[in-house]
Amino acid sequence: MDFIHISDAIQRKKGKVAIRGWIYRERKLKDKVFLVIRDSTNIIQCIVDDKNKSWNDANKLLIESSVEIEGDIFEDKRAPTGYEIKVDKLNVIQFAEKYPITEDQSPEFLLDKRHLWIRSRKLTAVLKIRSTVFGAIHEYFRNNGFYEYHSPIIQSTQTEGGSTLFEVNYFGKKLYLTQTWQLHAEAGIFALEKIYTIAPSFRAEKSKTSRHLTEYWHAEMEGAWLSFDDVQDIGEGLIKYVVKSVLEKNQEEFKVLKRDTKKLEATLKKNFPRITYSDALKILNDKFKMKIEFGKDLRTIEEDKLSSLYDTPVIVTRYPKVVKAFYMKEDPKNKDVVLGCDFIAPEGYGEIIGGSERESDPKKIIARLKEIGENPSNYDFYIDTRIYGSVPHGGFGCGVERVISWICGLENIKDAIAFPRTMLRYKP
Ligand code: 4AD
Ligand code: MG
Repeated sequence: MDFIHISDAIQRKKGKVAIRGWIYRERKLKDKVFLVIRDSTNIIQCIVDDKNKSWNDANKLLIESSVEIEGDIFEDKRAPTGYEIKVDKLNVIQFAEKYPITEDQSPEFLLDKRHLWIRSRKLTAVLKIRSTVFGAIHEYFRNNGFYEYHSPIIQSTQTEGGSTLFEVNYFGKKLYLTQTWQLHAEAGIFALEKIYTIAPSFRAEKSKTSRHLTEYWHAEMEGAWLSFDDVQDIGEGLIKYVVKSVLEKNQEEFKVLKRDTKKLEATLKKNFPRITYSDALKILNDKFKMKIEFGKDLRTIEEDKLSSLYDTPVIVTRYPKVVKAFYMKEDPKNKDVVLGCDFIAPEGYGEIIGGSERESDPKKIIARLKEIGENPSNYDFYIDTRIYGSVPHGGFGCGVERVISWICGLENIKDAIAFPRTMLRYKP
């Protein structure tokens, strides 16, 4: 017989089926062995009775052993997924040793055993949603005329501040792992105009928070001729498309995660509020008695308070120049602020997108580089983009694990990726 997936077997409702997978749970009685089998699609209870040729094997099976099963499927309301297979043939592929993961283990232990823990129903559900999110990002950009484009991972300068750079010993020279594709993407728009990528970015984050990884997947776009409003519109379109895709494709996974998907629906239906940084300071003062001086960046606590007022992401614009990166365009109407924006996710999931219109005046870029202690000659390639046919342009970066964390309602960003990397977590 041909093997089919458990979810397909359940759809058939009755008749002979052949499935294969791993033991998810086992219970041994005097005359029956109950095996719950798991594959990538679902779980199903299977019963082996004492007249079966493989009765002895069934009694030796431990959790995560791999098996092939043939038998009759029928409805049984008491079974975990409503169906059961009465086993004719049981073929053991491998008898697993005693599985180290049992109930109620510490998060650290589960991270040590991550290579096994990714088989759990929770992580399997998150990884399926993650796959939808990546697919949706590609679709959104490709449907909107963006080319996929790649920047180098090994780079010779900082972009997002020297304090989070990872150094690479490159044949005796000091180079860095990329923090963003952006500077080399700005060169690419003169060839392709509209480009995007999904690639790992690296940040040497010393903070232990529930929203920082040292290696994260970064969805970035850059476009020639884009205005500051265009950048925000494309970011809002992307988030809406991703949320629409997971709601269409991942209802089963949301059930496993016990995620209330009603909380995501406002993001589809409503326009994201767009407020300036100065509006944000006023709101924080009026509603929460938080007094923040103009010129201070919004911290986690302030972002969380702000996000509690909205059921969609909120876009905060026009931050003070001093808290934002050197490449952001000075607001022509107010030289103290830049045309940069952060998208703050609902439910306290923090900044999911950071973007801006880019400064086009090479003199301003050189002055800002000097202010942050950088040698402008290291950025010659970048400054050339402002000398040979400069055009207005902009782009953004979206932290994909932050988006997954919010969509899935996770407590910690580490569960949004199979093998998380943080300051203290670098294996397996
Ligand atoms: O705001 P950031 O630093 O912006 C840039 O890197 C720009 N160059 C992007 C661009 O315009 N092309 O990072 C962008 C996003 C943040 O909004 C956040 O979602 C995510 O990247 N991010 C992180 N995600 C997980 N762990 C970290 N340590 C992150 N740091 C930033
Ligand atoms: Mg940012």
